[in-house]
Amino acid sequence: MTSQQIRAQFLDFFKGKNHKIVPSAPMVIKDDPTLMFTNAGMNQFKEFFLGNTQSKAKRIADTQKCLRVSGKHNDLEEVGKDTYHHTMFEMLGNWSFGDYFKKEAIAWAWELLTEVYKMDKESLYVSVFEGSDDADNLEMDKEAYDLWNAIVPKDRIIMGDKKDNFWEMGDQGPCGPCSEIHVDLRSDEEKAKIPGASLVNQDHPEVVEIWNLVFIQYNRKADGSLENLPEKHVDTGMGFERLCMALQGVKSNYDTDIFKPLIREIEVITGQKYGQDEKTDVAIRVVADHVSAVSFSIDDGKLHSNTGAGYVIRRILRR
Ligand code: SER
Repeated sequence: MTSQQIRAQFLDFFKGKNHKIVPSAPMVIKDDPTLMFTNAGMNQFKEFFLGNTQSKAKRIADTQKCLRVSGKHNDLEEVGKDTYHHTMFEMLGNWSFGDYFKKEAIAWAWELLTEVYKMDKESLYVSVFEGSDDADNLEMDKEAYDLWNAIVPKDRIIMGDKKDNFWEMGDQGPCGPCSEIHVDLRSDEEKAKIPGASLVNQDHPEVVEIWNLVFIQYNRKADGSLENLPEKHVDTGMGFERLCMALQGVKSNYDTDIFKPLIREIEVITGQKYGQDEKTDVAIRVVADHVSAVSFSIDDGKLHSNTGAGYVIRRILRR
């Protein structure tokens, strides 16, 4: 299946569940002082989550251009060294604004992955928030656990702490517990040797998170405290490049049809071959990623410069 078909199937699936399909917001943010770049699909809907404005559509789905190069979500140092992080990437997402909540979000995610994309159920792991006994004093997400437990065997449900299973947009803003879906792309032989459950969130290049289902119910305020939002919302984000890697049967995002044409062009321009020397491969991956990030940033109206967002673009360009 091509990446274009994979993207279209995602949007069609949620259209079939009464979601309005909207365009990606620009990657460069102009009206939110807490954020320089769109770091997640939910950014453009922040005011809906906070209850400051109402969305006409209670259910929305889209594919969002994201850039994770500064602030709370920054993957710059990982890019190229591994095969599944990017500065710029596409995030497929579905949202509920005070409409459906955990039950539907979990059931539909599972339906799409296993019935539409026909992913092997045995290769999927899910995680649930275990709670925290720090100042936030948050409860374990028992509701999500019970919902997953009805679909997935216990040994494929992993409990996670705040770092992995409580999603926050930045130092302030909408947030809540989340459930991630991870896929194990290793061979049967490797799976028999080491159980996939022990490799979830352990930086294994073939056991990766593909989808994050966030159950937004709090606002993190400037003083660090959490306040309950007037309504409960769903914010999901699936890494498009990683999903394509899983569905196209390859072991690296850079081996999907999203990146292959870019890599080929870099080979032509540099006279280097991809896949023969690890140091060269890292460099080629960095160039492929950064060329996309810089091109799309400029297309979204942000040129490289000496200050603010423009300086971040300049740093990526220099790298
Ligand atoms: N906001 C969540 C994330 O970025 C899910 O969309 O992972």
